[in-house]
Amino acid sequence: MGNGKPGQVLALIASPRTLGNCETFTKAISRRVPEEHTLKLLRLTSLTIRPCLACYGCVMGNSCPEEDDMQFLLDELAAADAVILASPVYYLGANAIVKSICDRGFLFFSILEQTYNKPIILLNFFGIPDRVGMAPQMLETFAMFLGMSVKASLLVEAALPGEALMNEKNVELADRLGKILFSPDSLKPERGCPFCGSQIMRAKQKDFICTVCHGTFNIDADGNFIPLKEGGIIGPPEHMLLHREWLRGMKRKFQENKKKIIQTIAGYKDDGEWIKPPPRT
Ligand SMILES: Cc1cc2nc3c(=O)[nH]c(=O)nc-3n(C[C@H](O)[C@H](O)[C@H](O)COP(=O)(O)O)c2cc1C
Repeated sequence: MGNGKPGQVLALIASPRTLGNCETFTKAISRRVPEEHTLKLLRLTSLTIRPCLACYGCVMGNSCPEEDDMQFLLDELAAADAVILASPVYYLGANAIVKSICDRGFLFFSILEQTYNKPIILLNFFGIPDRVGMAPQMLETFAMFLGMSVKASLLVEAALPGEALMNEKNVELADRLGKILFSPDSLKPERGCPFCGSQIMRAKQKDFICTVCHGTFNIDADGNFIPLKEGGIIGPPEHMLLHREWLRGMKRKFQENKKKIIQTIAGYKDDGEWIKPPPRT
């Protein structure tokens, strides 16, 4: 991009369904991107992403002890010019693979310089109106911790595979999304957090806290969203990397207080009986 080469669009498909809504709608967007580009597709649900071991090794500059597909995903994110992340709503959230990846998010620090401000479109497909739960929040969290520029975060109604593209309005939406992916434009939600646009918020006495950027705001008598205080998570890479410094401080705090910590927890070691599923025959 910008050097005469076609742009590289990375499609992250968080659905196991071949030719399901996530896959076909993303391809429909790609067909409508006016800029010359290649489309790489990655089925997230086929990746092996193990749980974070909470060793803080990557935070301290060491490589991750888990040898799974996480580094491959990070390399692809770093190399892409734009990303489309599409997930079905499963049990009021995005597909769990999105959370599994976010749980390994300390590793995002290593590619933040490359992903910062990169355009991303977030799509959640749902089958039952009003049963979308917190799904958009999970995709928005992924984008935020990579410092990406969210062009749109949308919910699209579609239950059966391909249903999204049977609706003319959605085809028009795919057209719109294709056109904005590499443009300066974005689709802002009509109502949402005045800082980041997320529509999933937590109640706090009289105010609300955005569950993504953690900005504080309230809503006036006319229904306007009034910003009160930024959440402090979003910012340029140097700002977001301050969080890694804080984490490093926590690791040091742990080492300094190790004796007291062990004294507190060691007595609980032998309580209860750990159970495991029987080996499969
Ligand atoms: C296990 C499972 C859980 C689901 N949970 C929800 C749900 O909580 N809310 C909802 O609106 N749709 C739910 N759906 C419907 C899917 O979100 C919907 O069919 C979607 O279009 C699937 O996208 P895909 O074709 O890309 O896989 C669920 C589907 C499955 C298979």
